Amino acid sequence: MIQYLPHQHKNLFASLSLIFCFLLSIHPQINAQTDQELNQKIKTLIAKMTLDEKIGQTALRGRSSRDRGGLSEELKQSVRNGEIGAFLNVMDKEMLTELQRIAVEESPQGIPLIFARDVIHGFKTIFPIPLGIAASWDPEVAKTTARISAVEASGSGIRWTFAPMLDIARDSRWGRVAESPGEDPYLAALLAKAYVAGFQGKDLTDPTNMAACAKHFLAYGAAIGGRDYNTVSMHEPLLRNVYLPPFQAAIESGALTVMTAFNEINGVPASGNEFLLKDVLRDEMAFDGFVVSDWDSVTEMIPHGFAKDEKHAAALAAKVGLDMEMTSRAYEHHLKTLLQEGKITIETIDFLVENILRVKFKLGLFQQAYIPKNQKAKLYHPDHLAAAKKAAIQSMVLLKNNNTLPLKETQTLAIIGPLADAPHDQLGTWTFDGEKEKTITPLKSFKASQATINYAQGLSYSRDTSTAGFAEAIAAAKNSDVILFFGGEEAILSGEAHSRADISLPGKQEALLHELATTGKPIVLVILAGRPISIPRILDKVDAVLMAWHPGTMGGPALEEVLNGKANPGGRLPITWPKSGAQLPLFYNHKNTGRPADSSSFVQLDNIPIGAWQSSLGNDSHYLDLGFTPQFPFGYGLSYTNFSYRNLRLSKKQIGLKEPLTIEATIKNTGNRKATEIVQLYVQDVVGSITRPIRELKAFQAIELAAGEEKTVRFILHPEQLKFVNHRLKEVIESGDFNVWVGPNAAQGLKGAFELK
Ligand code: BGC
Repeated sequence: MIQYLPHQHKNLFASLSLIFCFLLSIHPQINAQTDQELNQKIKTLIAKMTLDEKIGQTALRGRSSRDRGGLSEELKQSVRNGEIGAFLNVMDKEMLTELQRIAVEESPQGIPLIFARDVIHGFKTIFPIPLGIAASWDPEVAKTTARISAVEASGSGIRWTFAPMLDIARDSRWGRVAESPGEDPYLAALLAKAYVAGFQGKDLTDPTNMAACAKHFLAYGAAIGGRDYNTVSMHEPLLRNVYLPPFQAAIESGALTVMTAFNEINGVPASGNEFLLKDVLRDEMAFDGFVVSDWDSVTEMIPHGFAKDEKHAAALAAKVGLDMEMTSRAYEHHLKTLLQEGKITIETIDFLVENILRVKFKLGLFQQAYIPKNQKAKLYHPDHLAAAKKAAIQSMVLLKNNNTLPLKETQTLAIIGPLADAPHDQLGTWTFDGEKEKTITPLKSFKASQATINYAQGLSYSRDTSTAGFAEAIAAAKNSDVILFFGGEEAILSGEAHSRADISLPGKQEALLHELATTGKPIVLVILAGRPISIPRILDKVDAVLMAWHPGTMGGPALEEVLNGKANPGGRLPITWPKSGAQLPLFYNHKNTGRPADSSSFVQLDNIPIGAWQSSLGNDSHYLDLGFTPQFPFGYGLSYTNFSYRNLRLSKKQIGLKEPLTIEATIKNTGNRKATEIVQLYVQDVVGSITRPIRELKAFQAIELAAGEEKTVRFILHPEQLKFVNHRLKEVIESGDFNVWVGPNAAQGLKGAFELK
């Protein structure tokens, strides 16, 4: 049976909110600064603005991230005329202050500018890449790092960051997987909320806060083949069940801005997409901040084949409520004519301007337009560096360990590999402001430790194909007890427009690892990369594998502590780790199919008998050569101790629609070190009106257990958590059978079942 949730309940909610706001507004004692008052201020200001000034507010003028030139008179005059509403990448404080001074003191209405920057995982103090932060499975890490980013960047006048990036990513070939929160909508939604809270703080007018920008709306991560900017074709239930939740969470948390995506969805580019920007974002989600395009994404609707020229692109974007245009200038060139020709209305333009002004008012820019004199930037403050180290430790995922880790501190270590001492590359993608001079590398940290170090790079960068350094590396290995190989990808190999078809270790890294293995010394492979790396050819050759992502400024000290056992590697995979790029997309919350893959009937390609009868082998959903399992599942990560799971208890076998279910299990630390386990709760809705994923993460808890200690972990599952959007685009909770697992990752766990009546 299908239980329909109150029809269009979000609209209902929006209506209730409106009534509530109205009640507040007629009751002045309740709230001094109501939305109504704010709207009144906006309306009063708009009434004074000329059409050119209105269009000016919609312009986000970019400087290239490397632009070091001065301010031209022409640019200053544009600001003076009120023709620009916001800037991107103005990093010189004097220039920024001068532009703001012109806007506030010399432009007709004195409307302040807002200055934006991609502060993605740190400003000066760089934290692990967002995929690494997601690996911490700890929203507090996201919040703290976002808060510090805001404190550091706002000191330079940046009050708007183009983060968090909330694109669900199921394909690690996509370069922007590095910036993503991973593949799971529940985890991503928690992180979204935390990022917004960190960037925006409690008081938006506090000049150390930045407006967040939930990007890229929507489904950018589903680009076909993981090739950046590629087409997205997606049915609406999938869009709503998987790709939308993190954005919903960000908006519910008050994210002030949203950025459109470069991609088209089902034939309509995101920047001209009425369904996304009007129906979903404004009508359903009641978003009242402003929408910014991505870089040139308005005029890119021309090559998309959706707009015939710049003017058409401007009309399409304005009509769907895209408020601010990043870098391209279609609005500036055409909105006026479009209005004169009756192709758009003044209400359309006013709507864009209202949204932009609302954000500027909310940020307190009208009161405090400049960087306050007493605001110290506190760059690389010791607290920031400590948080960066902690975040890196919590993000590291131990993938394999044959008792090689933790190291014994007094061992002789061969430190080898292109990323052992690569201060720029360990910062990762989107780190315009991070400085390699301030970055502490693993080599530097190990040199400061008790160990004796034999360093030989072996390969000078990750793509290096020269074997010239091999002999020195082998010699260093022979003279050492353990080999620490720091490999992976340079920062430039992931991020925007940096998709890879083959996601194995680039250059001659595998060859060097094979040679090192011939020395018989234990090898610890530390991967520094922007994505999971395919390693099946070397996994058996190494004794331990630690995924460090691009760990940021404090990556070195974090790695030294983790490898030496002063800290436990805290991370779990926020994304499925494939054996090969050829398996992608690969994700844990997939459907079962009518012929689910089955290990009992699967015959690997090399084992197929010659002359085998066509259907004599399991006709299931798998690859003959790669099988069907990942290298490591979602949620996976080892520890320096072991945990056992037992005694799954469900409070009831049957629950009603309003009844919560208590799920308990006993987790024991069976090793001899204190550590934290991330206990994960998954649910499967066995039969649905549309087929349901084989598992879905519904909750998790991090529990710290001393050696030998055991604890009961209790989850309360509410039927509300079982809702989904079906083929009729209704949010439903469907009665029937459910399976439930409490386990250490998406492929294991104690299994139970219950029925929803
Ligand atoms: C990216 C955005 C980024 C913007 C501004 C674009 O190319 O897609 O994520 O915020 O540039 O730098």
